[in-house]
Formats: sequence, structure tokens, C-alpha cells
Amino acid sequence: MSLQTKYLLDESRMPKFWYNIQADLPAPAPAVLHPGTLQPVGPDDLAPLFPMELIGQEVSTEREIEIPEPVRDVYRAWRPAPLYRAHRLERALGTPAKIFYKYEGVSPAGSHKPNTAVAQAFYNHQAGVKRLVTETGAGQWGTALSYAGALFGLQVEIFQVRVSYDQKPYRRAVMETYGARCVASPSRETAYGRSVLEKTPDHPGSLGIAISEAVELAVQREDTKYALGSVLNHVLLHQTIIGLEAMEQLQMADEWPDVVVGCTGGGSNFAGIAFPFIGHGLRGGRKPRIVAVEPAACPSLTRGKYAYDFGDTGRMTPLTKMHTLGSQFTPPGFHAGGLRYHGMAPLVSHCRQLGLLEAVAYNQVECFEAGVLFARSEGIVPAPEANHAVKGAVVEALRCKQEGKAETILFNLCGHGHFDMSAYQKYFAGELTDEHYDEKELAMALAGLPSVPA
Ligand SMILES: Cc1ncc(COP(=O)(O)O)c(C=O)c1O
Repeated sequence: MSLQTKYLLDESRMPKFWYNIQADLPAPAPAVLHPGTLQPVGPDDLAPLFPMELIGQEVSTEREIEIPEPVRDVYRAWRPAPLYRAHRLERALGTPAKIFYKYEGVSPAGSHKPNTAVAQAFYNHQAGVKRLVTETGAGQWGTALSYAGALFGLQVEIFQVRVSYDQKPYRRAVMETYGARCVASPSRETAYGRSVLEKTPDHPGSLGIAISEAVELAVQREDTKYALGSVLNHVLLHQTIIGLEAMEQLQMADEWPDVVVGCTGGGSNFAGIAFPFIGHGLRGGRKPRIVAVEPAACPSLTRGKYAYDFGDTGRMTPLTKMHTLGSQFTPPGFHAGGLRYHGMAPLVSHCRQLGLLEAVAYNQVECFEAGVLFARSEGIVPAPEANHAVKGAVVEALRCKQEGKAETILFNLCGHGHFDMSAYQKYFAGELTDEHYDEKELAMALAGLPSVPA
């Protein structure tokens, strides 16, 4: 008997709408506040940073938001992305569980990030913007925005977190190939970067610092806007195409998940696969367990405080209520650079508060171990970030083995690791260790949260 492995949707069946979970939540997410007045921000407060279409999506409560045809036209280069049944991984684990994974590494940039990069570049281009500034960790987001900028004729400037800039030189080469300019952060190009370097000349950088630098530059010029690769509502919205496609593909397989797993940095790939399933459950459909997997070295959902905080270290952004380790917290320089962020998307945080999802944290060595097992059975070398989702799925599959249950597990394989091979080399040399954050620094960062009256 032949076992079906790939579930492919024809281009004509690519979703025409993104799914907005804000339409189905039993309580709205807390308002975003202006850091000076502590009043809810209005569109004008955000206008220096984003075009109006994206600001509108940020606050929209419409359930379905149409994907513009020029965006769909670009998506067709790799979407619909395949859904795979991981037969060989199941056999390697000896589990009765059925494991499915949605593979986002087929995009030109190698991850889920172009799903929003293309949309953001399109809306900015439509609004007459000429230049986009952004941050990047591992470089996946920077690569995605560079690619999208090239398609829509936008100049792209990227602040890449210093530790990743040094660990992954070929990522920078790809960004430059697409025509972007990439600078290590903290840099001497912004007042905030200079202030960090004055105190700590060899600072490893963090996403929070790189965001401050990008925002500082973006607000200086009329023709320039800022683009964020995760966290914000509109970014999560654009990623829901992942879960929407997966729903159709699972129906082709005559399946529905009992568990949905994704890794969480800022929360966008996780929301992309999970929100359509959460929404389906909120509207009366079957409710799978939803599991967010984060790194133990940067555990915002499992160890952070649910509080108002800044999205960046330089305290330039509005205040959002989220699970946070404190905007002054610098996570250790572990290899899943895309997961080194102090906060969690407000919508993911809100869902956690509402009991709509679970969160777990794993160390990097056990995640690489799961990633290597995955590569040796399924053939794809996952990005270090995606290894967290693989680990989460393996843990669920082994639980099923122990309990003798044939559950269906769906996880998001959000990117490949072809630019992350130095991390794998370190793993094989036994040099990859579990990074631990400084408890004192975490306590100080949490004590320094802005005070916002309840
Ligand atoms: C492959 C990959 N996965 C996950 C992430 C984390 O971001 P998010 O939680 O927004 O998906 C990143 C971020 O750079 C990434 O490159």
C-alpha cells in the first residue's frame, strides 16, 4: 500500500482572505497605549511608522481581510506551501501518532517571513513610501523584506543583531544580493546605538535594540517607514494563510489535528498556524490543543509577566500588554536568533490569558537533537527556531506512544536551516551548550517595567 506523503493544493485554491482572530475573541485585547499620555494610541500616532492600510488592519475586527491580487501574485511563486505527513519520523519514534507538518521553508527566503514581508512592501509601495527600515535577528526576516523590497522597488535598510551578524555571514550576502543594506546592531549610525556601545562596546545586540535603531531612523524621513517582522496584529494576520491552507490540506487527508504546535519568538509563525484553528474552535468547531514552544533561555510566555511594556529597548515604541521579560533584558546569544525577543505578540499573550493555548520551554541542545532526528528521517534540515517546534511535536508524539493514543499532531516547520550550519557544526562538536539567562538581570528588567494604572 502506498502511503500519501505530500498534500498539495492547486494555486487556484490558495486562500483569497487572511483570517483575523480579533473577530472571534470572547474579549478584545487590551488597547495599545501612548507612552507619554498612557491613552490609547490613534492612527495618527502610528502614521510616522506605518502606512494607513496596515494601521487599519492592526485594529480591524473584520473576520476576513482580502489578500490584494498583487500580493497573491507574488505568493504564487511558492504558495500554497506543502503539507507533509512525517511517516519516517513517526517510524523513528515508534509512535502511533500521525504527525503532519506544514513546510514554510519553500519560500524564496527560506521561511514563513515573506508571507508578511510581501504584504507590507505592497502596502508601503501603494502609499508612496520609498524606503523601509527594519531589524533582523537570524536574518530570515531581513532576507524576506529585502526580497519583497526588490519586487516592489523599495530601498531596504536592515539592523541585524550583532551576534547573528557574526554567526551568519551568508545571510547578509543574501540580503545584499536582493539589494538591501545590512548593518550590525548596536551600530554607530543611530543615537541609540551609539549610547548602547558607549556603555558596552562589545554588546551582542538584541532584537529590542535593533528595533529602536530602525524606528529612530524611520521617523527621520517622510519617504521612509518602519517594518516589523513579528509581534504586531497585522503581521500575525498575514501569517494566517499558513493555517488556512493547512486546514484544507488536512481535510484532503481526512484528518483534523488533536494538537497544533508552533515555535514562538515574537509569535507570528505560531499565530499563523494556530489562529485559524483557535478561531474555528471559538465558532463552535473542534478544539485542538494549541502548544507554543519557546526557548528556555528567553521564556517570555512561560516565565514573563503579563504587563504593559515597550516593544524595544530604547523605549521609543507604544506600550502594549504582553508577556514580557522586560524591554531592558538581553537574552543570551543562543543560536535560534529569531527567538531572542523579550516580549510576545499581544494577541498571542491575550489568547494565553484567555486559556486558549498552552506554552512550554525547551533548551537549545534538546531542540537540536530533535532537529537532527527530523533531518535524518524527513530529509529537511530545520532552522534552529523551527527545531523548537520539532521538539514540541516529538514530545507530543512520545506522549501518544506512552498513552497508546493515535492522535493527529500538526506542527509548523517555519524555515530551513541552510544558513545555520555553523550551529549544527557546533552541536556535532559538542560545543553547543544550553545558555542560561542572568536571573538578576531578568529581575531588574521586570522591576523596571513602566507603571501603568490598571
Ligand atoms: C525560521 C524562523 N522561525 C521563527 C522565527 C520567530 O519569529 P516568529 O515567532 O514571529 O515566527 C524566526 C524569526 O526570525 C525565524 O527566522
